[in-house]
Amino acid sequence: MCGIVGYIGNKNCIPILINGLKRLEYRGYDSAGIAYLADGSSFVIKNKGKVSLLEEKLSHLNINSNLGIGHTRWATHGIPNEINAHPHFNEDKTLYVIHNGIIENYQTIRASLRKLGYNFITETDSETIPYLIDSFLKKGFPLCKSVQLALNEIEGTYGLAVIYLNEPDKIIAARKGSPLILGIGENENFVASDVSAILAHTKQVVYLEDGEMAVVYKDHFVVKTIEDVEIKKEITEITMSLEEIDKGGYPHFMLKEIMEQPDSVQNSMRGRLIYEEGTAKLGGLEGYIDRIVNSKRIIISACGTSWHAGLVGEYMLEQFTRIPTEVEYASEFRYRNPIISKDDTIIFISQSGETADTLAAMREAKRKGALALGICNVVGSSIARESMTGIYTHAGPEIGVASTKAFSSQLIVLALITLLIARKKDMSLVDGQGIVEEMTKLPDKIRQILKLNSEIEAIAEKFKSATNFLYLGRGYNFPVALEGALKLKEISYIHAEGYPAAEMKHGPIALIDDNMPTVFIAPKDSTYDKIISNIEETKARKGVIIGIASENDDNIDRLVDYSIKIPDTIRMLMPILTVIPLQLLAYHIAVKKGLNVDQPRNLAKSVTVE
Ligand code: G6P
Repeated sequence: MCGIVGYIGNKNCIPILINGLKRLEYRGYDSAGIAYLADGSSFVIKNKGKVSLLEEKLSHLNINSNLGIGHTRWATHGIPNEINAHPHFNEDKTLYVIHNGIIENYQTIRASLRKLGYNFITETDSETIPYLIDSFLKKGFPLCKSVQLALNEIEGTYGLAVIYLNEPDKIIAARKGSPLILGIGENENFVASDVSAILAHTKQVVYLEDGEMAVVYKDHFVVKTIEDVEIKKEITEITMSLEEIDKGGYPHFMLKEIMEQPDSVQNSMRGRLIYEEGTAKLGGLEGYIDRIVNSKRIIISACGTSWHAGLVGEYMLEQFTRIPTEVEYASEFRYRNPIISKDDTIIFISQSGETADTLAAMREAKRKGALALGICNVVGSSIARESMTGIYTHAGPEIGVASTKAFSSQLIVLALITLLIARKKDMSLVDGQGIVEEMTKLPDKIRQILKLNSEIEAIAEKFKSATNFLYLGRGYNFPVALEGALKLKEISYIHAEGYPAAEMKHGPIALIDDNMPTVFIAPKDSTYDKIISNIEETKARKGVIIGIASENDDNIDRLVDYSIKIPDTIRMLMPILTVIPLQLLAYHIAVKKGLNVDQPRNLAKSVTVE
């Protein structure tokens, strides 16, 4: 979603802003722009489309500026075009604002500003901010105070950066509900919505919290609340490296991240399995383990792919811990006044740790007294910081918009939690050791599946012109069917639906004909015979079938048109293996259609608006 980068220092800000914006491209955007101060004047340049277009425009101007802000916009109010792109500015073009989030009362603010003579030129909610700040500047307030006064009138969410020609020594940054960090350098400082934008320049960062603003000078910064109370902030050192967020020779981040899964899965388990005790050790849960084990109920709340991981988690937790477990879309959970008690543990799963609905759901759960446990990938993200206890997935940076390695790592963490609780309850040592052993074998089994890449690519070639797909699975593999369908939709724009295989008879079977491919996830587990019946039913209707099957299953070949044979593991861990061919299938179909897999249309990596 929208991205922010800002620079103040002695260097030319233009390449820094452009490279920062390029690093933010993965978040999803539709237009880009920058504003900068140079030679006592201010300038703004923006366009619809790619950052490279902006770069091209700027390359013709010989700019040398030490202060600027840049933005990638993901449209919420108003179509993606040059006018609606950020930065937005006041009438005399002295004040520039970039904004992530949504101003909910922008219509009311617009109406009162119109009465003061302000004319709006964009369709955006964001344009109200420079005008509102300007109205206070006109009353004689300095910039910082004017920003505070404006923010007091704003309802909604924001991560924003402001520069002003008449106070050219600072950037003002403020946060409420939309992530924002400061990057601290030597005689230079940065503002960004995401560390990847500034990682090339500094690893020292300050995380702003909701309700905080920063006045950033080139050699120091001051953080205060919107109410003007100064706050002392800690500087945190980022451990992520620049190499980790590069493509490493792969054509797309998505493929790189799929291929990284033997390592990312390994990293999620590293130091967390104790074979002798047949259990898991999760330092992040220390002090809360008894409360978790004694929970009367577990709720898992998340969005998108993380929600699918939650569904698998439900199967794991109920099977082994016998604690009733429910899974909720965070967006529904937060608005429907859920019944929550102090005996509930609520697990919030989020790769980015910034998804607006998940964050808000977590705050609501905390307010109601439940134990809020975060499972996040991005270290230092809002959910990671605000959850009461939590576990990092340690999958490494995930840049591809379609989530892959984060999903398998989320499943690992859910398996670890399950193991830990189950062993504290009534799982036997031997059973616990069995799970530990199977988990240890996963990286090699994933390696084995990844060797099928060319085979899967060849299958993708056959289906690149399909317009509809059905994905079916049972038990633990039902959520994988949903995830497989989601992957295909996200990057290939082919309509796909996931269903529990038995439900096929209640609707989707009507769609099946010789043009409709169905992917069956059919490893040899306790539901195998049932799913074979569903395959037969599909075959009888001339459906085209791709089967994800166990490596020793020769029987399935007579039923399916294409089979992808993978190693087996215990049922609870099977989704970590079955999802991988589906990720590859979606990837190759999209590439064969000539689509930009890393930046699918309309999607965002980090959904920071509701
Ligand atoms: C977006 C991303 C998905 C992701 C979902 C939840 O839609 O494109 O890949 O699964 O948000 O994100 P989170 O960061 O909370 O896991």
